[in-house]
Amino acid sequence: QEDIFKNVISHAKEYGFIFPSSEVYDGLSAVYDYAQNGVELKKNIREYWWKSMVQMNDNIVGLDAAILMHPTTWKASGHVDAFNDPLIDNKDSKKRYRADVLVEDYAEKLNVKAKKEIEKARTRFGDAFNEQEFITTNARVVEYLAKEREILERLAKGMSEDLADVKALIEELEIADPETGSRNWTDVKQFNLMFGTKLGASADSAMDLYLRPETAQGIFVNFLNVQKSGRMKVPFGIAQTGKAFRNEIVARQFIFRMREFEQMEMQFFVRPGEEMKHYEYWKETRLKWHLSLGLGQANYRFHDHEKLAHYANAAADIEFNFPFGFKELEGIHSRTDFDLKAHEQHSGRKLQYFDAELNKNYVPYVVETSLGLDRMFLAVFATSLQEEVLEDGSSRTVLKLPSVLAPTKAAVLPLVKKDGLPDIAHQIIDDLKWDFNVAYDEKDAVGRRYRRQDALGTPFCITVDHQTIEDQTVTIRHRDSMKQDRVAIADLKSIIENEVSM
Ligand code: GAP
Repeated sequence: QEDIFKNVISHAKEYGFIFPSSEVYDGLSAVYDYAQNGVELKKNIREYWWKSMVQMNDNIVGLDAAILMHPTTWKASGHVDAFNDPLIDNKDSKKRYRADVLVEDYAEKLNVKAKKEIEKARTRFGDAFNEQEFITTNARVVEYLAKEREILERLAKGMSEDLADVKALIEELEIADPETGSRNWTDVKQFNLMFGTKLGASADSAMDLYLRPETAQGIFVNFLNVQKSGRMKVPFGIAQTGKAFRNEIVARQFIFRMREFEQMEMQFFVRPGEEMKHYEYWKETRLKWHLSLGLGQANYRFHDHEKLAHYANAAADIEFNFPFGFKELEGIHSRTDFDLKAHEQHSGRKLQYFDAELNKNYVPYVVETSLGLDRMFLAVFATSLQEEVLEDGSSRTVLKLPSVLAPTKAAVLPLVKKDGLPDIAHQIIDDLKWDFNVAYDEKDAVGRRYRRQDALGTPFCITVDHQTIEDQTVTIRHRDSMKQDRVAIADLKSIIENEVSM
């Protein structure tokens, strides 16, 4: 399991899907960049979601609210005053969270200790200093780093989800603060989850702002604007995708928990008292959406929340079987009228809807579906990455992405770099590129080029050979079956379209 996860991370980097942010400076913890193939896969997931929400439902419209919002927004939502994450509101979660923070803090301190030793030695030995050698031979540094690694590996495996496990680890490691030697760690600081920034240039007139920790509030504050300008009738929904920021304390599982991430949320406004009907509908509908991608029914399960956040009267997660076990992928929450009422109170404006059928005004209830785009990316990517043993005993790495999501739909490969074959390949590309992302590759033997496209998740390879010159046909190779058919160039578009359209 651990190896599978390591493979996922290195494959993502090697094939241009995901890089650590600002890697030349050794990266920034829990922040990542999407590279040439990652950005396409991510865009396709976003589009697949957007179409199913906005295009397919005549009572759901889109929105793109700003990341920066008036600071009172976060007072109303509860993010400013609540302990860390307003979603972590029961005692066990808080304890677990604290234990996580404690262990993570410990790892960080060990790392700092090791770095200090290294820096001391560097000043002492000057030019003669060999850092790599020092790290592997200096007993204290070796010990610090080994302990740090063990802790991080265990955190990464997700053992910290269980408080008992964390307690055992703390006891086993006999954790004492490496700075003070104290065993008393109960005084864990309260963290603010939101990233702060300032609006305005001069120090005294500047206004403290936050980067939004969820996209949802941009929808709530626009509820009436959209309803009136779009003449929307309850029940209706507003969908949005966009960046959210959380200063996560425990953020060590690649793109599972990031400090800058993207959400795809839909808030559905309903008549008070009818929310449970809609909640059940959206639970079922969202699961169906996931299943439509064909990653395997057994990889999903519901987790109904027994303890609810302060704003909810029902909540469930769709959990996915990640390489480190079943974890939350998407949340479906019945948020009552908590948010709209809170914004009414804090703004002094009415956020009510006039229901002509009932002939009355009310603050609608909200059922929300909230999916992390990066988390969805990880689910799709990790499940699709497979190591296959072939009939002849050799093996291949293949990224069996749902074709509709694949970054490149077809690669066009001239068998050799001469005899006019590259020209024909380019003509085919010029024809197809209006409809699909297509790639050209002429480097290496064709077998190796197939393997490379397999690893990139490209559903089709189109090979131009000498017969093409005579009869305008090419071979088309299917990624998953590796079967090859001889087809007319004129038929390529419909063959590809058949398999990759949404
Ligand atoms: N508006 C409700 C809300 O934000 P949430 O459970 O905090 O609810 C919803 O977040 C989804 O956003 C999660 O199910 C997860 O997929 C994603 N998400 C939350 N925090 C994340 C993080 N730090 N990194 C990546 N994805 C995250």
